[in-house]
Amino acid sequence: MFNANGTESAFAEQSVYASRVASKVNDYYGYKPKACVVTFGCQQNVSDSEKLKGMLVSMGYSLTEIWEQADFIIFNTCAVRGHAEDRVYGNIGKVKALKKNKPNLISAVCGCMAQQETVAEKIKKSYPYIDIVFGTQVFHRLPEFIYKRMNGSKRIFERTLDNKDIVEDIPVSRDGEFKGWLPIMYGCNNFCTYCIVPYVRGRERSREPQKIIDEAKQMIADGYKDITLLGQNVNSYGKDAEHGINFAKLLRMLNDLDGDFVIRFMTSHPKDCTIELLDTIKECKKISRHLHLPFQSGSSRILKLMNRYYDREKYLELIKNVKERIPDVSLTSDIIVGFPGETYEDFKETLSLVKEVEFSSLFTFIYSPRNNTPAALMADPVSREEKGKWFDELLKLQEEIAEKNKEKYIGKTFRVLCDGKSDNDGFLTGHTNGTVSVEFKADESILGKFVDVKINSYENAYIGTLIKN
Ligand code: SAH
Ligand code: SF4
Ligand code: F3S
Repeated sequence: MFNANGTESAFAEQSVYASRVASKVNDYYGYKPKACVVTFGCQQNVSDSEKLKGMLVSMGYSLTEIWEQADFIIFNTCAVRGHAEDRVYGNIGKVKALKKNKPNLISAVCGCMAQQETVAEKIKKSYPYIDIVFGTQVFHRLPEFIYKRMNGSKRIFERTLDNKDIVEDIPVSRDGEFKGWLPIMYGCNNFCTYCIVPYVRGRERSREPQKIIDEAKQMIADGYKDITLLGQNVNSYGKDAEHGINFAKLLRMLNDLDGDFVIRFMTSHPKDCTIELLDTIKECKKISRHLHLPFQSGSSRILKLMNRYYDREKYLELIKNVKERIPDVSLTSDIIVGFPGETYEDFKETLSLVKEVEFSSLFTFIYSPRNNTPAALMADPVSREEKGKWFDELLKLQEEIAEKNKEKYIGKTFRVLCDGKSDNDGFLTGHTNGTVSVEFKADESILGKFVDVKINSYENAYIGTLIKN
C-alpha cells in the first residue's frame, strides 16, 4: 500500500473508493445525503476533521451540523482526560435514536479514543449501532470503510498504528475563511508520564518542508491570513528527517512567502525551545509574537516525575530569554494540578511560577489518570476535593493577573486581523498577532483584512475603535 517514500499511492487508492462511493451514494440513500462530523479534543483533531469533511464532500455528501439531518455521522474523539471520554460515550449513545428514525444512517467513531483497544472493544459490545470504528493513523481510509459498509460488510474495526509515512493529498474542507490549520508533524516521542497522546498518535513524523510550503502557499492564495502550524511539539520538527530543516528554518521559509499573513504555531515543548527559534520569531515580521510553552508544574521534583526534561530553573531561564528577545511576547501555558504525589508545597511552587511569569492566559487541568501510562501506577493520596481547592486557588491567582494585564492594553493601538462578527450587533472581532481579541464597530467589508484598532475599555471583551484600514 505504501510506495518507497510512502505517501503518494496511499491516498490514490482511497480516491478510487471515494469515486465509487460518489457514483452510488444517491442511489443508496435515495437522495443527496448529508454528513455530520462531531469533533472533540485539540486542534490536531479539528484539523483531521477538516480532512474527514473533505473526503466526505468528495464522496458526494453535503455537510451539516444538525445531527438529525445526518445520513452519515462521525465522532472524532479525544482521550487526553477522563472527562473528554465520558462526553464522547454520552454522545455516541444518542446514535441509537437517530438510527431508529433513519435506518440507512451510517455511524462511525474515530480519533484518539478509538485508537485504544479497550475503547474499540467497549464500542463493539455495548454500542452495536456504531458501524465503523477506526484509529488515528488510518483516518484517510474513510472512503474505503464507507464503501465496504455500503456494500454489506460487517461492522468495521481498524486500529493499525504502524508509524509509517504521512499520507499527503487528502482533500480538505476548511472550517474557517481567514484562519486555518496547517499540520507540520504528527505524533509524539516524549512520553510525559501522565499523557496518553504518544500511545494513541504514535511516534513523531514530520511532513516534508516542500509539502508544508506548498500547502501554505495555497492557503495564502485562497485568502487565509492567519495560519496555525500544528504539532504536539513543533520545536522538534525535522529531527526525524535528513533534510536538515529545523523548526526555526521552516518558520523563516514561511515568513519569506509573499503576502500579508500571520503564522502561529503550537505546541512548543520548553525542552526544545532554542535561542535560534527565539531570534527567528524576533526577526520575522509575519511570525506571531505568541509562545504557548506548557510548564505543567512549578516544582522540579514533580517535573522529574512527569518526565519533562527541564526543571523550574531551566524553565524560568527560558522565559527570561524569551522576554529579553521578544518584549511584546504573549505567553500562555498548560498546567496540571494534582499530579500523583504532588503536595501542597509542590503546588505552591506552581503558584509562585505563575505569579513570576504573568502569562496572558492559562489552560489548567486537574490530573486525570490514563490507562497504561506510568503515572496511573503512582500513589495518588490527595483527594479530588483537595485538588479542586488547589485548582480554584490557581484560577483566582490567574484572574488577578489577567485583571492587571488589562491595563497594559487599554489606550494602545494594535494591528488586528478582522476575522468575524461579534454577538454584539454591528461589532466585528479582531485578533492581534499575539493573543488579544478585540471588538469594534466597522463595516463588514473589512472582514479578512488587517486593520489598526485602538483599545478603549474592557467589558467582558476588549472594546476598541477602528483607526484605519
Ligand atoms: N503536546 C502538548 C499538549 C498535549 S495535551 C504539550 O506537550 O504541551 C494538552 C494538555 O493536556 C497538556 O499540556 C497537559 O497539560 C494536559 N494533560 C495531558 N494529559 C493529562 C492528564 N492525564 N491529566 C490532566 N491533564 C493532562
Ligand atoms: Fe503528551 Fe508530553 Fe507529548 Fe505533550 S509532549 S503530547 S504532554 S507526551
Ligand atoms: Fe486529545 Fe488526541 Fe488531541 S488525545 S488532545 S485529540 S491528540
